[in-house]
Amino acid sequence: MIRLRAERTSLAHVRADAVAMIVFQDGPLLKDAQRELDELLGPAAAALHHGIFSGALKESLVLYPSSLKTRFVILVGGGKAQDFTAERLRRASAAAAKSAGELKVRSLAICEPPAIGSAGPPLDAETVGMAISEGVLLGRYRYDQYVTVREKETTPLEQLTIVTPTAARLRALQTGIHRGSIVSRATILARDLGNAPGIELYPESLARRVRALGRQEGLRVTVLDERRIRTLGMGGLTGVGGGSGRPPRLMIIEHKGKTGRHPVILVGKGVTFDSGGISIKPSAGMGEMKMDMSGAAAVIGTLVAAAQLGLPQRLIGIIPAAENMPGPSALRPGDILKHFNGKTSEVENTDAEGRLILADALAYASRFSPETVIDLATLTGACVVALGQHATGLFTDDDALASELRDAGERTFERVWRLPMFEEYEGQIKSSVADVKNTGGRWAGAITAALFLKRFVGTYRWAHLDIAGTAMLEEATDYTATGASGVGVRLLIEFLRQRTA
Ligand code: BES
Ligand code: MN
Ligand code: ZN
Repeated sequence: MIRLRAERTSLAHVRADAVAMIVFQDGPLLKDAQRELDELLGPAAAALHHGIFSGALKESLVLYPSSLKTRFVILVGGGKAQDFTAERLRRASAAAAKSAGELKVRSLAICEPPAIGSAGPPLDAETVGMAISEGVLLGRYRYDQYVTVREKETTPLEQLTIVTPTAARLRALQTGIHRGSIVSRATILARDLGNAPGIELYPESLARRVRALGRQEGLRVTVLDERRIRTLGMGGLTGVGGGSGRPPRLMIIEHKGKTGRHPVILVGKGVTFDSGGISIKPSAGMGEMKMDMSGAAAVIGTLVAAAQLGLPQRLIGIIPAAENMPGPSALRPGDILKHFNGKTSEVENTDAEGRLILADALAYASRFSPETVIDLATLTGACVVALGQHATGLFTDDDALASELRDAGERTFERVWRLPMFEEYEGQIKSSVADVKNTGGRWAGAITAALFLKRFVGTYRWAHLDIAGTAMLEEATDYTATGASGVGVRLLIEFLRQRTA
């Protein structure tokens, strides 16, 4: 576990095995940095004068000072100062942390970028503390719990120090570090859950994890077993769970908060493994479907972070969990299900299972007379086709809610992009034997899935986030390795913070 702190000191005096400095590309700022490094390092800084390092984005260079306490000085390109953002700071910090890993150091210090608070853009100290913590913690994450034989030994990072020359910024930096580490660790929890294989994580074991987290974090957890789910009339969850030897569960997680009879409810798709069921998926790439509970993971992470941050908003997480398998009691194409609110659905394809279990959960949410309900689901391949891995699909009829989520997405860089729910698409999910059909044909698959969910939504404000492309990454980004990204936790915490601010 990495310890994080802020300290008023300087590159010359900080105690750390490696010190990272973000250097901007702009002439005068680059000159300032060169002068500072010349004074401190003498000949070791020569590289800066030969154009080897220009401060461009993605550039980095390690210097080996002989005159300082620290063994390495890591220079990271910051690009143009005027274009600098919190996201660039996250990425630069992740680059520094990665470099520290290659240098096998146990302690790293990162200097506050010089442009900040002077000529540069107005990144406040809290944002800086948060972004650096996020970049380092998330950037160092790997899912390696099961690796027992390593090719290379890795050295864990034990200490991160954020260095500022300004005592007045310390407190806000620390606040940022506090928030940044809570949301990053909650994101890592979501990543670990997403990456956990189906043999380890199934509805019952997920419920056990959630119970334990509830005890630890002071969240109230209720778990409904298969019998309860059946008696409640949740035909979707019973149906989808039926094909597996591992029975379904419904989890309700509550963060009491201080305000609000009307909670915000977060619903997360919890398909612990999606084989497709009788409409079985092709075998190539099927293993990725261990991450089909990433919506649930985001909800769990968000509740944990909300509890640790002491958010005032009352919050309820609802997780329908099932394993979609083609066992002897599996759903068959042609089956008709009755959901919690009495509406029926025709199962044309057992691989469109997410919407069947979410239908019950969304209808059940009405019980708590929520103010707003947001569901997160790795719902459709069509959403991946539409948006790839860089944007989550957003569906809502509420413009205000859309813009709140969009803003939170920009700030956290867990960006969302709105797609329509025009009623003209409804024809595609019309059934002649039930109220609605669970597939909508070849076109606009993400939209018809959202319209299916909408049939089960109560009288509350609602948004649906299709995270199929953003929750499971094929390609690593600067602070997210391939596999489960933990998307949703930072987005939702930012969304919740803004509305209570
Ligand atoms: N879990 C999948 C969606 C998915 C696909 C998530 C790729 C992440 C990456 C979902 O249950 C599913 O199988 N959806 C089907 C629906 C179709 C049968 C109407 C799909 O998208 O192909
Ligand atoms: Mn499926
Ligand atoms: Zn699925």
